[in-house]
Amino acid sequence: MRIAVIGTGYLGAVHAAGMAELGYEVVGVDVDEAKIESLQNASMPFYEPDFEPLLRKHVGDRLTFTTDFAEVADADVHFICVGTPQQHGSMAADMTYVDAAIDSILPFLKDGALVVGKSTVPVGTAQRLADRLHEVTPRDIDVDLAWNPEFLREGFAVEDTLHPDRLVLGVTSDRAEDILRGVYAKTIEEDNTPVVITNLPTAELVKVAANSFLATKISFINAMSEICEIAGADVTKLADAIGHDNRIGRKFLNAGVGFGGGCLPKDIRAFSARAGELGAAASLAFLAEVDAINLRRREHVVEMVRRELDGLAGRRVAVLGAAFKPNSDDVRDSPALAIAGQLHLSGAQVSVYDPKAMANAAKVFPTLNYADSVEAAVKDAEVVLHLTEWTDFRELDPAVIGESVASKVIIDGRNCLDVDAYRAAGWTYLGLGR
Ligand code: UDX
Repeated sequence: MRIAVIGTGYLGAVHAAGMAELGYEVVGVDVDEAKIESLQNASMPFYEPDFEPLLRKHVGDRLTFTTDFAEVADADVHFICVGTPQQHGSMAADMTYVDAAIDSILPFLKDGALVVGKSTVPVGTAQRLADRLHEVTPRDIDVDLAWNPEFLREGFAVEDTLHPDRLVLGVTSDRAEDILRGVYAKTIEEDNTPVVITNLPTAELVKVAANSFLATKISFINAMSEICEIAGADVTKLADAIGHDNRIGRKFLNAGVGFGGGCLPKDIRAFSARAGELGAAASLAFLAEVDAINLRRREHVVEMVRRELDGLAGRRVAVLGAAFKPNSDDVRDSPALAIAGQLHLSGAQVSVYDPKAMANAAKVFPTLNYADSVEAAVKDAEVVLHLTEWTDFRELDPAVIGESVASKVIIDGRNCLDVDAYRAAGWTYLGLGR
């Protein structure tokens, strides 16, 4: 089987390598020449653990990358993995790249080809694209469209691609279902992966519903965090206690500076916008509150620093973390970078360090000061902010970093540092919601 993957960002590049690992001939296509050149040299254009070994194993053998759409012509299955970012000036998703991807492969689709959407899209998109495919392809060519949403987490993208916890196949024909079951046969057989067969709109909705639930869970605990702060309670203990109820569960109940990244924030906004278009705005009105709680946490940290330093202008602040989460170099909608940026705009002298996200952060926020180590970032700082929970940061020795700061005050925006160790080393430790 030959597989084409259209769009080689965090999702598509890893999916292409994953498909090669499953034994298929794979071509990855993107319009970004620099990205393709990097992938074709088996070098990852973004940081993702375990990804580069897969590239090195398969590029030059059964995995190729190109900017030439004509190379998809032999493919039996075409996975659409392009981005659907938030539109400028609107909450809705920008569908330009999805539409362009379909238009670009249309002239090359062979008889019997299956187009499979993986991108996160507004419900109704799959049917619209299926209609377009049938309208435009010549009568003697039979092509089909299916929707197979992706649930991969950055930082675990390879693991989630090779061993997904479920497969959702939105199909309109037995043939499409058979092809997709065939593509994932190894996973289904070896891992006993649950397969949920649905129609197209259900498959599209599964993805945004899952991300809305995760975002809601995080904002729920962050709302509790706000109450805990006022009431003198500890949100980490509260999360442990309610998390023991297995109907609730402890995962995704870590209170802190909230969620960011290329998915959760824009997905809840696009979902709300789509509900409005469908006349169901009230059904998702709560997602606006989920978003608001999340964004309030960022302002809250800025206020904590202002209070602690009695003003921000000229004050020296060290920020540990720029990525939206550890094990990633992704800074899209990153709480850490947003807080660093806001402090800077309020006049503070901000020094940022992140193990992997420095280059991306500097592109988004070039005016911040980027230090080349933790030690350089915290030097002479009047307050240290821990905003992305990299293992490197969690393992810092509070006594050692305490030697170079101007004042031993740390705000733990992820509530995961060793409070006792910091206090024992003479630090004022401030968590969120505790
Ligand atoms: C998410 C979904 O988990 C994934 O299934 C989907 O395919 C894409 O979106 P990802 O964006 O990689 O994946 O990150 P995720 O691990 O979900 O974390 C999202 C954000 O929530 C991060 O900023 C993280 O720091 C934050 N978070 C997570 C919390 O603030 N608290 C938690 O308890 C968990």
